[in-house]
Formats: sequence, C-alpha cells, structure tokens
Amino acid sequence: MKEIITERLVIRKFTENDGEDLYEYFSNPKVLEFEPYKPYSKEKSYSEAKRRAGDERFLAVCLKSGKLIGNFYFAKEEFETWEVGYVFNEMYWGNGYATEGLLALMKYGFQELGARRMIAMCDPQNPHSWKLLERVGMRREGTLLQNVYFFTDEDGNPIWKDTYEYGILKSEFQ
Ligand SMILES: CC(C)(COP(=O)(O)OP(=O)(O)OC[C@H]1O[C@@H](n2cnc3c(N)ncnc32)[C@H](O)[C@@H]1OP(=O)(O)O)[C@@H](O)C(=O)NCCC(=O)NCCS
Repeated sequence: MKEIITERLVIRKFTENDGEDLYEYFSNPKVLEFEPYKPYSKEKSYSEAKRRAGDERFLAVCLKSGKLIGNFYFAKEEFETWEVGYVFNEMYWGNGYATEGLLALMKYGFQELGARRMIAMCDPQNPHSWKLLERVGMRREGTLLQNVYFFTDEDGNPIWKDTYEYGILKSEFQ
C-alpha cells in the first residue's frame, strides 16, 4: 500500500516505532469496548506495532505532526471485495478524522486497488461506528442476530452479539 495523504492526515504502514502511540489507545477499555480483545499492556502494544509493521492489512493513521491517532484494517477478500475496520484514540474522536481517513481509503481502494465492493461489520450498540459508515455512504445490508461471541460469562457461557453488516459498491461511491 502506498502512503495516502489527506488534508489533515497521513495514512501509512505501521513501523516498529509505533508502540507508544498504539499503547495510548490500546490500553483504554472504552476504545476496545466492541473489539474482540481486552486492553493491551505496554509490552504487548510494542510487540503488536512490530507485528503490524509486517502485516499490510493494518494501516496507521497519523496527524501531519507525526502523531499516530488510530488505525484502519483494510483487507482483500474474495470477489474484489475489501473489508474495512478502524480503531481511533479516544482523545481524537469527534473531529472528523475517521471520516476523512476512511473516505480517502475508499477512494484509494476503488480507484487504485481494483476494489469493486467494500464491506464493514459493527455492533448495533456501537453508534459511533455505524454512524461513521453511514457518513461515508455505506448501506446497512443486514442485521445478524447472535452470530458471534468474543467472550464468555463467569459460567463459561458465550456472550452472544448481534452484527450490522454494511456495504458499498464502486458504482455507488461518489
Ligand atoms: C468508530 C470511531 C473511529 C468513530 O470516531 P468518531 O470520532 O465518531 O468519527 P470521526 O473522527 O469521523 O468524527 C465524527 C464526529 O466528529 C464530528 N466532526 C467534527 N468535525 C468534523 C469534520 N470536519 N468532518 C466530519 N465530522 C466532523 C462529527 O459531527 C461527528 O460527531 P457526532 O458523532 O457527534 O455526529 C471511534 O468511535 C472509535 O475508534 N471507536 C472505538 C473503536 C471501535 O469501536 N471501532 C469499531 C469497531 S466495529
């Protein structure tokens, strides 16, 4: 993936030096409330930054100052379809950064990577996420009931979760 530059952001590959900024939001339970993992220690954040430096599906989202404020997951699936995901540092929510970055990523995917369709999944109880998807023009294509669980309760029973599925075709993207 090439570097994507927008008005306020630089979207680039991870480097092994991104551990500290990753830790700043991966240690925040509120940021990870809907993710399938628990808050990371500093050590785990540093090794995750190193791992991501070798995994093209994860992209660092930085301010022009160089500060890493979040990340995208952008992965090619079957049938020229790409799946997108995102996690941003809570300190930078509410400024339109995720919207600006996601629109640029979609444009890059449709215009330069040959994507025909993009999809995203999110928890219905996470309006920050599905509002973002709707702001960039994605359509809600379905609601899956109790299709997945990430954690179990104290008795070991799955904590089932519902999922909204979103999608957009290249022909729909403005
Ligand atoms: C999902 C997530 C990235 C959305 O972040 P966000 O800050 O709501 O999204 P944006 O950065 O695009 O900001 C949009 C908000 O900023 C406001 N805003 C301010 N300036 C703006 C601008 N120039 N352009 C667009 N929106 C702007 C919008 O009105 C909107 O506020 P609202 O939600 O009150 O309507 C963030 O909540 C997050 O990281 N959550 C934790 C991880 C997570 O749940 N990931 C999804 C798992 S499926």
